This record gives sequence, structure tokens and C-alpha cells, in this order.
Amino acid sequence: MSETHVDAVGVTDARTAHQDLHSAQGALRGEHPGRSRNPVVKVADLAWLEFEKPDLDRAEVFARDFGFGIAARTERELWLRGTFAGSPCAVIRRGRTSRFISPAFRAAERADVDRLARATGTAVRDADVPGGGRVVDLLDPSGTPVRVVHCGEELPALPGQQPLPLNSGTDHRRVNATQRPPREPSRIQRLGHVVLETRVFARSLDWYLDTLGMIVSDFLFLDGQRDRGPTMAFIRCDQGSVAVDHHTLAMHLGPGTGYVHSAYQVTDLDSIAAGGEYLRERGYKRSWGIGRHIQGSQLFDYWRDPDHLMLEHFADGDLFSCDVEPGWAPMSSSGLAQWGPPATRDFLGAGPSPQRVRDVVQALRGDNEMDASRLLGLLKATNS
Ligand SMILES: [Fe+2]
Repeated sequence: MSETHVDAVGVTDARTAHQDLHSAQGALRGEHPGRSRNPVVKVADLAWLEFEKPDLDRAEVFARDFGFGIAARTERELWLRGTFAGSPCAVIRRGRTSRFISPAFRAAERADVDRLARATGTAVRDADVPGGGRVVDLLDPSGTPVRVVHCGEELPALPGQQPLPLNSGTDHRRVNATQRPPREPSRIQRLGHVVLETRVFARSLDWYLDTLGMIVSDFLFLDGQRDRGPTMAFIRCDQGSVAVDHHTLAMHLGPGTGYVHSAYQVTDLDSIAAGGEYLRERGYKRSWGIGRHIQGSQLFDYWRDPDHLMLEHFADGDLFSCDVEPGWAPMSSSGLAQWGPPATRDFLGAGPSPQRVRDVVQALRGDNEMDASRLLGLLKATNS
């Protein structure tokens, strides 16, 4: 996790952190407070993400091109890592189809895994991760498996990509030296966040806040339907006065269930851009980028892996301590970025794929939080 203490240089007064953002406002009276009064535990971070893919060799080629290091490789498992010390970023297990399985969150202490097991009537088991540890397997209200893990050993840090020395105005960091960012894969530092779609947003949101003690950084609502509550939340870990990523989990209401994208931190804008050129030259498909987000402020660049899963390179994201209250803003595609090309239909999932059509039909028939007016609201947000 990228952490900073609130007495660091350049830290904004927590209560006013949202005031300078052009679209965000605070909650109205009676709206969701964005945190639980008495959560079971407070998870420390996202530990890793679990995927399945039929072809681990092909997965490893993309992983190296995208900038991961290999933490471990066996016949049936591929563990990916960043250069920072800590847990691996992701595991890909051999499976029949390419799919996301679950997020694994990092418990602050071993006793938290036991506490969660007791609270949910679940058993604790040994974690099959390099370095070992203990894990509890939970299920969120959308039906997505969620693991909470306490790791035995941490992976040691690897040499990373250094940020380039930049000349800025009269601040000259580089004299008698040229700027030559290498055309090579970005080097991933760590896992940042995962974004999930759900048909039961309100229930899932409360589950993550009540069970894992996470807190909301920003809420989005459908334009004209704010009184029906938020339909997207950017959620961070509550580490008290330690400032952490603006979101480690983002979740939005939609006709589908499951993985939208996952994001991995690299060192700076040149790493994003030069690493992006490297991917483009190898024929990978950019989904959307390069730009700078509003919620979280990250510099971003979104890519598709060979199985069409979306992954993001990011740098320079916001870090919030627990003092910052949730911001509120209407959902729109133009509200996703401060600058950058317009959000693509691929990124927005706006293509009428057979799976999407099936999702919509199922969502409108089922017992969930999707209905015709919300579907219309989501379509409007996609086009505004
Ligand atoms: Fe993202």
C-alpha cells in the first residue's frame, strides 16, 4: 500500500480535500454516511487478485509485457508481483475459461482473520500463497468470493523504475543530460484497486463497510435520481491517520456481476506513456487513455489483455486519511476524467455484446436493484 502520514508536506486539510474538485460536493442530510459504525475488522489493503486462464504461457507473455514480475510459476499457477515489497499482485490459475475469481484483502493482523471467521461462521485455512499465511473465504452479496488473508512472509523489494528528473520552469533538475525514457515495459510497483459491477449495489456496499471496515471516498449517483441513493462508490481502507489510496475497491450498479478492471501503480507519466507505446507496438489494444481521473486524480491508461480483461496502469493517485468525508457527484462519462481523450465505448462497456444483452434481460427480470429507470439513468450517464 502507498501510505503517507497526514503531517507530510503538501497535505491538504482533510475536511477541505473535496472543495477544489470541480464536480464533487458533500452529502445531503440523511444520505449514506459512507462508513460503518462498528465493522467486524478493518482490512489494511488489497493483497492480490485471483484469476483463471486456460493458457498460462500466453498469460505470462502479456504479464511481462504489461510490466509484472513473476513471483512463482508452476504447471497450474502463475503468481505476478510488483517491485515493491509485500504480497504478490495477482495469481492466475489454469482453468477452462478466462475469468476473474476473487479479490483477496490483507488483514491488519492475524486475529482479524479469526474474527471474520467467527462472525461469518466460516473456517480459517492455510493460504496457498508463496510465503504462506492464513485465509478466510467469504462471499459478498453479489456472490463474488472474497478472501481475507494474513500473509506469512513478504516478498522482498526488487529494483524499480526510477522517476525521471524533470525540468519544470526555473526548477532545473537535469542539466547537461538528455531525457531518454527507455522503450520497455512499465515496471509495476504494486496492485492499486479493483472495480466490480453488481446488481445489488446498496447491499454489497454495506457488506464491505460492515464486514471489512472500508470507508467511502466518493459516491456517484444517477442524474435526477439522487434521492434513490448512490449507484457507484470509490472505497478505501480505513488506516486511521495513515493516508491510503483514494480507492482500493470501486463498485457500481449495473446489469452485470463481477470484474470491470484492476489497476497497477507505475512510477510516473513517462512510464505510463513509454510502457503504453511498448504494448501498442506489440499489438495489444488500448481501451482508454492516457488521461487524469477526477475521483482519485490518477494518471491512467487502460489496456485489454489477450482475453479482453481490462487492466490499468496508473500513477500519482490521491491519498486520504480516515478524516476525509465522502464526496457526492452525478455519474457521467465526461465526469470520469479531468483531461484525456473522451471515454471510449469499449471502456464504458457500451458495446451491445450478446453477454451484455443477456445481463440486461436477467437484471430486469431478477430480484435486485436494477430497474428500467436505473437502466435508462445508466445509459444517459454513458452518453453524457
Ligand atoms: Fe481504475
